[in-house]
This record gives sequence, C-alpha cells and structure tokens, in this order.
Amino acid sequence: MSKKALSLTLVFLLFFSLGLSSPPEDPIKCSSNNTTCTITNSYGIFPDRSICNASQVVYPTTEQELVSVVASATRAKTKMKVATRFSHSIPKLVCPEGQNGLLISTKHLNQVLSIDVKARTMRVQSGVTLQQLINEAAKVGLALPYSPYWWGLTIGGLMGTGAHGSTLWGKGSSVHDYVLELRIVRPSGPQDGYAKVETLNEQDQDLNAAKVSLGVLGVISQVTLKLEPLFKRSITYVAKDDSDLGEEVGGFGHAHEFADITWYPSQRKAVYRVDDRVPMNTSGNGLYDFIPFRPTSSLELAVIRTTEDIQESTSDANGKCLVSKTTTNTLITAAYGLTNNGIIFTGYPVIGFHNRLQASGSCLDSLQDLRITACSWDPRVKGEFFHQTTFSIKLSLVKNFIEDVQKLVQLVPKGLCVIDLYNGILMRYVTASSAYLGKQEDALDFDITYYRGKDPNTPRLYEDILEEIEQLGIFKYEGLPHWGKNRNLAFEGAIKKYVNAEKFLRVKERYDSQGLFSSTWTDQVLGLKDGVTIVKDGCALEGLCICSHDSHCNPSKGYYCRPGKVYKEARVCTHLKSERD
Ligand SMILES: Cc1cc2nc3c(=O)[nH]c(=O)nc-3n(C[C@H](O)[C@H](O)[C@H](O)COP(=O)(O)OP(=O)(O)OC[C@H]3O[C@@H](n4cnc5c(N)ncnc54)[C@H](O)[C@@H]3O)c2cc1C
Ligand SMILES: *[C@@H]1O[C@H](CO)[C@@H](O)[C@H](O)[C@H]1NC(C)=O
Ligand SMILES: *[C@@H]1O[C@H](CO)[C@@H](O)[C@H](O)[C@H]1NC(C)=O
Ligand SMILES: *[C@@H]1O[C@H](CO)[C@@H](O)[C@H](O)[C@H]1NC(C)=O
Ligand SMILES: *[C@@H]1O[C@H](CO)[C@@H](O)[C@H](O)[C@H]1NC(C)=O
Repeated sequence: MSKKALSLTLVFLLFFSLGLSSPPEDPIKCSSNNTTCTITNSYGIFPDRSICNASQVVYPTTEQELVSVVASATRAKTKMKVATRFSHSIPKLVCPEGQNGLLISTKHLNQVLSIDVKARTMRVQSGVTLQQLINEAAKVGLALPYSPYWWGLTIGGLMGTGAHGSTLWGKGSSVHDYVLELRIVRPSGPQDGYAKVETLNEQDQDLNAAKVSLGVLGVISQVTLKLEPLFKRSITYVAKDDSDLGEEVGGFGHAHEFADITWYPSQRKAVYRVDDRVPMNTSGNGLYDFIPFRPTSSLELAVIRTTEDIQESTSDANGKCLVSKTTTNTLITAAYGLTNNGIIFTGYPVIGFHNRLQASGSCLDSLQDLRITACSWDPRVKGEFFHQTTFSIKLSLVKNFIEDVQKLVQLVPKGLCVIDLYNGILMRYVTASSAYLGKQEDALDFDITYYRGKDPNTPRLYEDILEEIEQLGIFKYEGLPHWGKNRNLAFEGAIKKYVNAEKFLRVKERYDSQGLFSSTWTDQVLGLKDGVTIVKDGCALEGLCICSHDSHCNPSKGYYCRPGKVYKEARVCTHLKSERD
C-alpha cells in the first residue's frame, strides 16, 4: 500500500467509524423467519470450506429447558448438536447432520451455580467461558491450575475436544481431569419422557467417556471442577540455540511446573518458558495479555496479510525469512505480552497471580469499531487465514521427531520461515488421562499454524515441508491429533490410537442409540464410517487428503506429488522447477 493510500485509509478510519463493536460475530445466523440457520466456526469456515445448515436454534437457560428441548427433538428423531458462543473448533464438530438439524446453543447457559470455598470446588453451567471461570474462582481465592491459554472457550466445548494447557505435574494438563462431577442430558425412550439426565461422578466409568466426548453423548448441562488455592507464579522466557532441543525437552518439562517451548526451526532458536510457583508473599502483580490475542489494528492486519499474499504469490522466501525474524524479535522484546504490573514490561522474572497469567484473549472484549481493531483471525476483516496442525507425540519419541524436523531444516533452511508469522511451533506438555478419548501417555503437543490461501487451489510456499512434518508427527511418530484443530488427513486412523475407543463407542451406543447427536463427520472420526479424507483435484493443498496422484496437488502451478525428503513414506506436494518450466 502506498503512503498516500495509507494515510487516506487512516483518515477514513478516523472520520467514518460508526461505533460497531468488534467482539466476534455469532457463529449462528438464521433467516428472518427462523426457518433456516447456518453455523460455522470463529474463522468463518470449516476445513472443507463449507458452512453448515440447521433448521432451528434454541437458547436454553436451565437444565429443565435443556431436558425439554432434547426430549422433543428425540421424540421427533431430529438430529442435534451443541453449539457455543464463539465456536472455536476448526473441524466440523458442531454441524448437525443434513439441513433440518437442531442447534442447542449454550450461549445463555452461562451461570456459575455454586462455589464451595472450603472444599475448593466450583459448579458451573457448561456455557461458562474459561475467562468467567478464572475470574469467579479468583474472587474467592481459588484457581484452576492448568488451562488452555485462550480464555474464549466454554467449559462444555473445551471438554468436548480435550483441551489443555501445559504441565507434567499434578493431575495433569487437561481441564477434563479436574472434573469431579458432570450432568449430561441425553436422548432416551418414552419410559423416560424421551430425555434423561445422567449425573456422573468419579465413581462412574461413564465419566471417562463424558469427559472428552466430541459432543456425541448428549448435552453437558453442568460441571463441577476441583480447584486449588490461588497461588503466584514466576515466568522467565529464555531464548536459546535449538541444537540440543531434542535432548532438553524431557528434562525441561519435569523441571518446571508450567513449562512450554516456542520453537522457530528456521531461525535455529527455541524460547523456553521457565515458569514455576512462588510463595504468595513474593512481590509482583504481573499480567499476561498475549499479543496475538489482543485487539489488533484492522489496518495493520490488512497490511500484514497483503504482504504475505504477495510473498506467497512471488515465492519470496527471503522476504518470508525477514518477516519471520522481525516478528519473532518483536514478540521476544515485548515478552510476548507479559508485563510486570499490568502496564509495562521492565524485565524478568514476571511474578504475579496465576489468574492474571494463565490465559488471555482481550480481543474478545474490545468494544472498538471493527474497522479499528479485531481478533486477528476475524473473518469480517482482511486478516489472518490459516491452517492449524496440532498433534501430541509421546515423550519417548519426541527427540527423534525433533531431530527429523531439524534434518529437514538442514536440507531446506528457509522452509520453516513461513510459520514464524504465526509464532513458530508451540510445544506444550500434556499428560495421560483416564478419559477414553484423552491423551494415552505423557506427551508433547506441537501446535503449528500456517498460511491458507483464499483460493483453495493455490499452493503454499514450502508446503511440502509442512506436509512432511504433519505426516511425520501424525503417522511416523503416531501423534494424536487435537480433536478441535487440524485438517482432515490428521484424523485418518486416529481412533485406532486410543486403547479404550471401544469402551467409548459402547457408552455412545447406550446414551444415544439412534445417533441423534452424531453426524457423518463424528462417525468418520470415530471410525464408524469411511471418508475422513476427501479425494479430489487439489485435495492435498487443503489437507483434505494425502496426495497419491499429481492432480491432488497442482501441476499447473508446478506442484507434484512426491515422497518426503526425510520421511520417505510421506507424500507431499513439492514444487518442481524443471517440470514447471
Ligand atoms: C485462539 C484459540 C486458542 C486456543 N488455545 C487452545 C489451547 O491453549 N489449548 C487447547 O487445547 N486448545 C486450544 N484451542 C482449541 C480449543 O480448545 C477447542 O477448539 C475448543 O474445543 C473450543 O471450545 P468452544 O467452547 O469454542 O467449543 P466448540 O468449538 O463450539 O465445540 C467443541 C465441541 O464440543 C461440543 N460441545 C460444546 N459444548 C458442549 C456441551 N455443553 N455439551 C456437549 N457437547 C458440547 C460441540 O458440540 C463440539 O463438538 C484454541 C482455539 C482458539 C481459537
Ligand atoms: C428467531 O429466533 C430468535 C432466537 O430464538 C428469536 O429471538 C426471534 O424472535 C425469532 N424470530 C422470529 C421472527 O420468530
Ligand atoms: C422464510 O424466508 C425465506 C427467505 O429468507 C423464504 O425463502 C422462505 O420461503 C420463508 N419461509 C416461510 C415458511 O415463510
Ligand atoms: C447448506 O446448504 C447450502 C444451501 O442449500 C448448501 O449449498 C450447502 O452445501 C449446505 N452445507 C452442507 C455442509 O451441507
Ligand atoms: C514470605 O513468608 C515466609 C514465611 O511464611 C517468610 O519466611 C519469608 O521471609 C517471606 N518472604 C517475603 C519476601 O516476605
């Protein structure tokens, strides 16, 4: 954008703002007569670029209302799905089957029901957000020790997909492992009035199914969580050369309670988060307002995206590496959004109360005009649009995986500059869970975000490298895909990696024998139907398939299906100059 255009845009922004607020749009939209509705996710689109349909949406506020909604839909054999305020999962989990499904929104099931300070427990409705939970607990001196880093998730939704923070300590990294009791409304026969409330506590085997359910067992109405007394933490980010990363990861995770690592492979750099509890009387009132989750200037978002589009279309690897270094250095200098007192960062360590450090998401609460700021992925503005590949590899295999990625970087040094605009690879410690669809062993979760073109047929710069890493992680090292992220291919055969998958399916059969809460997508992911991957021209570019034929890439743009460079069994879309010219 020229300087003149830029200043004109600024003038426009200053004088023509209409006071529209910028919190994300509702993911559910209905026609004015309420006969047709659509649902999507917070990115505005699912992995196959569809949006989904439903014929009705309801907003219950109490368990009683939930029961009557589920009962009447069950009597009518209507397909149902639970939807949340923001719909933050990437895959099509929230889509009811077909055109005539019912969406049950938890938007107004958002009350904290009770807190027992002495017993350190909290009972909430399932639509309560992580932000609400953290704040309400802190008010009475309690804390959920480990949580996702983004506070816009609901309790029902984050349990649905097994969401987690990072730790190898205590009861582990996943929120669902702190559930003492939950109440779930499920379909039933006429003898029960077509719906039934199950109350599951730690003595019930069924809790292991309901804790991570992909939403297919019914509607979770209430959840009781085990908390602990609020505490303080001390955080220091330490940047290091990545040459011994594979050696370091195991010990680092055991040494620091809230450890994580952000890895920038093309910069040969890893940033270690040294993060531990400190005594309550340690001084400090730090705050973590993670920069990528802040309201971001819409103008800046557009400039960044336009630059990235141009670099992609001109295969400007050097430009990408330059942006990569600048972005990383800026984030490191700004301590990723940590401040010592809520205002400025003056140096490490940053010490503060857990509730001010564990999660953030200030872009959700911004009241500015959409044309001024937004969450960086808000589909209503020109901003980030990306794929996300997230899998966890058991700790014993992590070193080998990391070394394979490092071999790739040696072969193609600039190949991974493309992920640094999205802050590299976030590595978090996750723990074995009794949940049937939870983590099977202690593991390291790798979270990789990267460019997605608006045009599905446009190949990405170095897409072969990212596809190889995706296949290395998921297939060679048997990584478990995060249920709420990823592209279709990551779920191929995933269910076979869970030793208790059969037990989960038996509970599903008992709770919802007609599959009213299931859809083609959940059946596919659970191994009950084929077709997780979609084979068609260009499918590998979008992660809908692993290429097995050149047409799954884009030969007209010089991208052909070829074996991986380090993992020969991988099949990736590689740019071949000679064949193009
Ligand atoms: C910016 C961002 C940051 C993230 N950070 C993390 C992170 O740090 N760690 C992590 O693990 N994940 C993270 N995620 C992923 C996130 O955890 C999952 O996508 C999560 O499931 C989304 O929760 P949600 O409330 O938006 O639920 P949705 O995506 O709306 O729903 C997820 C599933 O749960 C079901 N469901 C929802 N409520 C209920 C209910 N009451 N009863 C039964 N089923 C229900 C839905 O039907 C659906 O199947 C992040 C996502 C984003 C966008
Ligand atoms: C459509 O549904 C919404 C939400 O249930 C409700 O608020 C609105 O009044 C309905 N509109 C009509 C025309 O029925
Ligand atoms: C509802 O509105 C849609 C257009 O928004 C129209 O096509 C449809 O016929 C209407 N249905 C009823 C029952 O009025
Ligand atoms: C939703 O309905 C529209 C219009 O009928 C259709 O084009 C689209 O494919 C449907 N979406 C899904 C996921 O079936
Ligand atoms: C914090 O409290 C402990 C005992 O409770 C005491 O020994 C220590 O000196 C205190 N530290 C500070 C910094 O006040």
